[in-house]
Parts: sequence; structure tokens; C-alpha cells
Amino acid sequence: SIDVASLTRQTGHTTLDYGFVNTASTKSAITYIDGDQGILRYRGYPIEQLAKNSTYLEVAWLLIYGELPSASELESFDERIRRHTLLHEDLKSLFSALPPTAHPMSVLSAATAALSTYYESESDPHNPEHVELNTVRMLAKLPVIAAYAHKKSIGQAFLYPDNKLSFVDNFLKLNFGVMSETYESNPVMTKALDLLLMLHADHEQNASTSTVRLVGSTGANQFASISAGIQALSGPLHGGANEAVLQMLGRIRDSGESVERFVERVKNKEEGVKLMGFGHRVYKNYDPRAKLVKEAADEVLEALGVSDPLLDLAKELEQIALEDDYFKARRLYPNVDFYTGVIYKAMGFPTRMFTVLFAIGRLPGWLAQWREAITDPQTKIGRPQQLYTGAAVRNYPGV
Ligand code: ACO
Repeated sequence: SIDVASLTRQTGHTTLDYGFVNTASTKSAITYIDGDQGILRYRGYPIEQLAKNSTYLEVAWLLIYGELPSASELESFDERIRRHTLLHEDLKSLFSALPPTAHPMSVLSAATAALSTYYESESDPHNPEHVELNTVRMLAKLPVIAAYAHKKSIGQAFLYPDNKLSFVDNFLKLNFGVMSETYESNPVMTKALDLLLMLHADHEQNASTSTVRLVGSTGANQFASISAGIQALSGPLHGGANEAVLQMLGRIRDSGESVERFVERVKNKEEGVKLMGFGHRVYKNYDPRAKLVKEAADEVLEALGVSDPLLDLAKELEQIALEDDYFKARRLYPNVDFYTGVIYKAMGFPTRMFTVLFAIGRLPGWLAQWREAITDPQTKIGRPQQLYTGAAVRNYPGV
């Protein structure tokens, strides 16, 4: 039995809420979601309007500073980020210490944590100049680390950032450029990747963002907090779902199993079988990001001249699931991860890079949320309660 009195804290009661289904951990002015209606807004701006008119860097500024930047603010932000893309040469040896089979998400997290060792004297969470500098450093350097994780996984040499290029073109060149050849950027890919990064830029108190805020609440610096957020994102129930969706589609195609039969297995809750890329803790309606990604998938594949049977398979799965009582009753719809993988694949990214792309997209949100938490006078160290269910007091043998 539970001794409720001993659990009483300042508020007079303790709530047991597995998965924080009903418990708010903070107030926040950054992102608004209405899961029933399928609404997502960054700082009040509907995601559909941003998707059509804005860019990843502009949205990064919006999330971090609260307002859309003026043209000169955006220009100097872009310029500052370009000036900080280089990694310390010594940091590159970290990549060779890791096995070639290392998952790029682990590499990204490890290298982000390692970055802090280069900036220890400039990492005080309560020094606004340090915070500002490290915000720019991370926006500039994490894409470079991500691209090096990719290059490492395919055994190719790392390229230096080309700071004449835009943020997204630089990132694409670091991933797909080859040392001896001139890199030609592809405007279709640039626009599509910019959009996908922007659509992932924030999503209020999801698992990785909550992790970033929790680690930040201990006074740990930005590098430590974001490195932990990357690890939280890697799980298949969170960002890792985009990788899991492609694996699922590939398995269905290779096994020759019909889509109907696969959906039956999902409904029967066969061990380990879920419709990946479906369902969401907050959205009980179509994820507005998934809608935008689905539209983009058709456009991008057509513009790149790629036809992928996995896209048709994904659409067939969606249609069958949306008409099925199991999914209707549970209000399960495609989430942002359902169609992104097909686009990343068409661009040439290996499946294991998909969640890394999500992380680069989410970075501005993590930074904005960390800054909001650190400057909120009401922030306390995050420390959930528990309901103890173990043994009552007992004596050590012989005592
Ligand atoms: N396939 C089949 N059944 C599902 C799925 C799914 N993808 N998602 C939820 N369900 C079922 C559950 O089995 C449960 O059924 P029950 O009531 O009969 O037990 C019911 O729907 C409610 O699901 P919960 O797991 O309780 O919902 P929760 O809010 O805890 O989980 C989550 C949300 C983790 C996203 C879940 O829907 C899921 O596992 N989806 C697949 C993984 C995925 O796509 N993750 C990405 C999420 S978005 C993001 O992080 C970017």
C-alpha cells in the first residue's frame, strides 16, 4: 500500500502519470499544437504559411528570437553561421576512433558532446554572450558533423565546408561532393531539404526536447543538453521512426506480403509489428507536417526523375489504414515520418542518415527551448516524483 502522506510535497499531492500524458512540464511561448484539429504554429505562424514562404534559417531565427528577422538580421545570422562551420582539426580524429559500422546518430551525439570540450571556458549557461556564440556554433557545426558521419559510413574523405554556398547547399555538398570533382548543386534538392528541415524545426515538449530542457535544468551547457536530445531522438518511437518506416516498406516489398496481410498483422499486435510512421501522442488528426511532406514527395521525386515503388507502397498502406476501423477507432494517422524517408532516399541519403536529418532540422527548436528554459525564472531542476513499490524496510542478514 502507498503511504500518501509521505509523498505529500509542497503542492499537497503527487500525480502518477506514465509518459506524462496529462502533465505539463513547463509553460512555453514557442510552438502551438492543436492535436485534434491538426494545427501546428511556430511563434503563432501556421506551418503551412511558413512552408510556402519561409526558409529553415529564417524559421531558426523565428524560433530562437521570437520574431521573424529583418532582411539584415537574417543576412548577418547567415553570415555568422557560415563563419563558424569549421571543426577543430583534432575533433576529426574522434571519427576515426569509432567503428565504420557506427550509427550516424551515435556519431552525431558523441561529436556534439565532444564539441563542448573545445569551448569549456565559453559555455556558461548564464552568460548571454556564451549562449549566443554556442547557438551559432551548433547551427554551423552540427550539419558538418552530420555530413562527416555520412562520409565516414561510406568510407569517403571529409570535405571542408564551402562557405560561399548557402546553408543547405553547403550541407548537400559536404554529403555528396567528392574531393576531386566540382559539385553542382541541384535546386530541387536544395528546396526540398530546406522544407523538410523547416518542418522538423520544433514540436513543443516531445521526448527529445523535454530531454534537452531536463538536462539544461541541471545547469549543464548547451552542447551536453543537445547531445542528450540527439540520443533521445534516435529511438524508433521518436525520430528513429523515419528510418524504421523505410525498413518496414522494404521488408513488405521484399517478402512479397500483401499490404492487407501486413495491416492484419499490425492489428493483431504481432510481436514487434507496428505501422511505423503512424500515430502520435498529440495528433489525433492528420499531422499537418505529414500533409506537406506527402505533397512534396510527389513533386520532388518527379523533379528528380526518380520513381520509387516504395512511395506507391506507402500510399497504399496509408489508404488501407485510414479506412480501417482499428486505425479509425484509435485515431491513428500518418505522422511526419511516414513520407520523409522516401524523399531522403530519392536524394541519395542512406536510410541510417534519416534520423540525423531530423536532428539537424530539430536543432533550432532544441536551442530555442533550452534558451527559454534557462531564462525562465520559474525553471527548477527537473526532478519527477515516484511511487515506491519495492520492499518495506528489512534487516541485512545477520543484523
Ligand atoms: N501501429 C499500430 N498500432 C498503433 C500505432 C501504430 N503505429 N500507434 C499506436 N497504436 C495503437 C496502440 O497499440 C494502442 O492500442 P490499444 O489501445 O489497443 O492498446 C493505441 O494505438 C494507442 O497507442 P499508444 O501507444 O498508447 O499511444 P502513445 O501516444 O503512447 O504513442 C506513438 C504514440 C509512440 C507515436 C505510437 O503511435 C507509435 O508507436 N507509432 C509508431 C512509431 C512512430 O511513428 N513514431 C514517430 C512519432 S512522431 C515523432 O516522434 C516525430
